[in-house]
Amino acid sequence: MSQIELDQVARKILTDNDQGGYTVPTKGLYPYQWNWDSVFVARGFATFDTDRAWREIELLFEGQWRDGMVPHILFRKDDPSYFPGPSVWGTDGGPIPSSGHSQPPVAATIVRDLLELDASDAALDRAKLLFPKILQWHRWFMAYRDPDNLGVIAVIHPWESGRDNLPDWDDALRGVEIKDVAPYERKDTSHVDPAMRPHKEDYDRYLSIVAACRKVGWEPEKVARTCPFFVADPGITFILLRACRDLLALADRLGETAAQPEVEGWISRMETGAARLWNSELKAHVAMNLRTGKQSDGVSSASFLAPYAGLTDPEVLKPLREHFDRISAKVRYLMPSYDPEHQAYEHLRYWRGPVWAMVNFMIARGFAEAGDPGRSDRLRRDTAALIQTGGFAEYFSPETAEAAGGGSFSWTAAIWLAWARPSQADQAA
Ligand code: GLC
Repeated sequence: MSQIELDQVARKILTDNDQGGYTVPTKGLYPYQWNWDSVFVARGFATFDTDRAWREIELLFEGQWRDGMVPHILFRKDDPSYFPGPSVWGTDGGPIPSSGHSQPPVAATIVRDLLELDASDAALDRAKLLFPKILQWHRWFMAYRDPDNLGVIAVIHPWESGRDNLPDWDDALRGVEIKDVAPYERKDTSHVDPAMRPHKEDYDRYLSIVAACRKVGWEPEKVARTCPFFVADPGITFILLRACRDLLALADRLGETAAQPEVEGWISRMETGAARLWNSELKAHVAMNLRTGKQSDGVSSASFLAPYAGLTDPEVLKPLREHFDRISAKVRYLMPSYDPEHQAYEHLRYWRGPVWAMVNFMIARGFAEAGDPGRSDRLRRDTAALIQTGGFAEYFSPETAEAAGGGSFSWTAAIWLAWARPSQADQAA
C-alpha cells in the first residue's frame, strides 16, 4: 500500500472506531473507552480534526472519579462481549460506570502537544478547563500510588501499568492468593488466538486483585495499604514524571502559576526516587515489588523511557544505549516489550516480547530530546516498517513483523498519522 493509502486507512480506522466523541481501541476485543488509548488517539485526530482531538480527552475526563482518579476503562454502554464488565468491578467512584484503577497518565503531554498544534483561543479555553482535572489526577497518583513518598509510582494491578502481561509482574502475581473469584468465562480468547493472550491462572489472579479492592470499596488509602499487588513500575513512573514536566509548562502557558510549586515538588520527588528502580547489575530501571522490596530482573521497553522522563545522566544514558544496540542486534524490529535475551521473552505473547507503536513513539521522543536523533529515527523507521508490513495491528512480532492481537487498532493508526509515517523529507531523499 502506498503511503497515501495508508494515511487514508489510518484515518478511516479512527473514524470507524469513533463512537460519537470517544474511540474504542478496536471493535470486538475492546468495545469501551480505554484511558491511554484515547489520549494517543487524540494525538492522531489532531493531524486532521483538532476539535475531535480535544473532544476525545474531554470525554475521558468526564469519567474522572471524585477522588481525582481517571479510570482505565469507561463502560459507557453495556457490552456483553467484554469481560470483566462493570458488575465484576463493583465501583462507585465517578459519574460513569468504570473499572477501579487507572492507566499511564499521558494526558498532560498530549494536551501540551495539542496546544502546540492549535493555539487558537478556543484551544486555550479547552486546555484551561482540562488543566485542573489533570492536576487533580496527578495529585491522586502522588497520594495513593506513592503513599510513602518514595518517588516511585506503584500499580495495584498489572492492568494499571498498561503493560498487562509483562514478565515483571510474574513474581508479585504469584504472591496473590486466588480467592473470591466467581466462575467466569473469558471473552478475550474468543476474539484473538489464546497463544497471544495471558494464561488462565494469571486471569484468576487478576480477578482476585479486583475482588480484594472491591472488598475495601475501592477506597484509595485502603487499596494502597491492603492491595495484594503493589509494584512500583518504571513505565508509569517515567510517564508521570514526563507528564508533570509538561503540566508545569502548561501551567506557565495558561497562567496557572499557583499550581507550579506543587508540581515542581512531585518532579523532584520522582527524579530522586527513580534511582530506587535502578538495577545496578542489569544497568537499567526495572520494576520493584513494594511489599517485599524485590526488583525484577529484565530490561523492558519502559527501561528505555528514562530519557522521555528527562533522566539523561550519562550513568543512565550510556548503558541504555548499549542495551538498545545489543537488542537491535537480536531482533529485526525495535523495541520489543521485553528483553529478547531474557528467559521469559516470547515474541508473540502480549507484553512478553511484541512491539507496540505508541511505546516506540514515547521512547523515540526521549532519545531525540536527549540528543540522539539516530536511535530515535531508527525507532520511527521500524514502526513504519511494521505497519507497512503487518497493517494497523494491536502489536507486532519484533522478529517477523507478524501482526498480532486485535486488528484495525486505533492507537496504531493514530501513531502512524502523528509520527511514524515517513516524512516528506524521507520521501524526497
Ligand atoms: C490491553 C493493553 C492496554 C490497552 C488495552 C486497550 O489491555 O495491555 O495497554 O490499553 O489493551 O488497547
